[in-house]
Amino acid sequence: MVFEKTLAEIVDENYVYARALHYLGISFFENPNKALSEICWEKGLDQEKVIQSFYLFDTCSRVSFNELKSYPIDLLVEYLKHSHHLFIKDKLPFIIHLARNCEEELAIQKLLPEFVEDFIRHIYEEEDSVFKYVQILDKSSKGSVSNPISELLQFGKFSLTHEYEHHQGDDEMRAIRSLIEAFEPKSLKEQVLVKEVKAFDREMLYHAAIENEIFFPKALELEEEVYSTLRKTSSLN
Ligand SMILES: [Fe+2]
Ligand SMILES: [Fe+2]
Repeated sequence: MVFEKTLAEIVDENYVYARALHYLGISFFENPNKALSEICWEKGLDQEKVIQSFYLFDTCSRVSFNELKSYPIDLLVEYLKHSHHLFIKDKLPFIIHLARNCEEELAIQKLLPEFVEDFIRHIYEEEDSVFKYVQILDKSSKGSVSNPISELLQFGKFSLTHEYEHHQGDDEMRAIRSLIEAFEPKSLKEQVLVKEVKAFDREMLYHAAIENEIFFPKALELEEEVYSTLRKTSSLN
């Protein structure tokens, strides 16, 4: 029975539960030898809720590549924005929390702030320019923008092709990845940190592949389509 196990045993069994516990207000490394039932009693936590949270954090919410390929572009943008939200609000804060609480001064602690800054900048640039531009293209193709040319002109020198080229070379995790590969964890907390960083890296690579292989090609195709329609209609006038 999971409630009779200690927090260290639970996290050792499945590192993902460390993040689930964190969101329930429980730090596994502060009370590693306490049984989960004891902690639940102390914090007044409903056991049912704990089980639900374990399940939620453990189930993989990934959508397959093939399924995403069939998504219309507006839905794809929503999916990517939702992934950004999860990275910033859920996964990254837990990694920062773990790194901050490691007893030893770890090299990764020094790299994290710069990485977080780059990462957040990447996401905001994507949402504020690329996604916005593509949403206008999408609405224009559906005829729901009254003056598509003036809307598109607002993006000035923005180039989707240039963004795509630039995006393919991006790899913000490079430095952290090589650090974590060489790192030998000495405690359960450090083990969880390594696993969380590796899982985050895998997710980031998957996310970038969705953008590079599905989103950008679809967006460029849509751009071509919209501009060719605009050229035709403006030459008719
Ligand atoms: Fe993204
Ligand atoms: Fe991206």
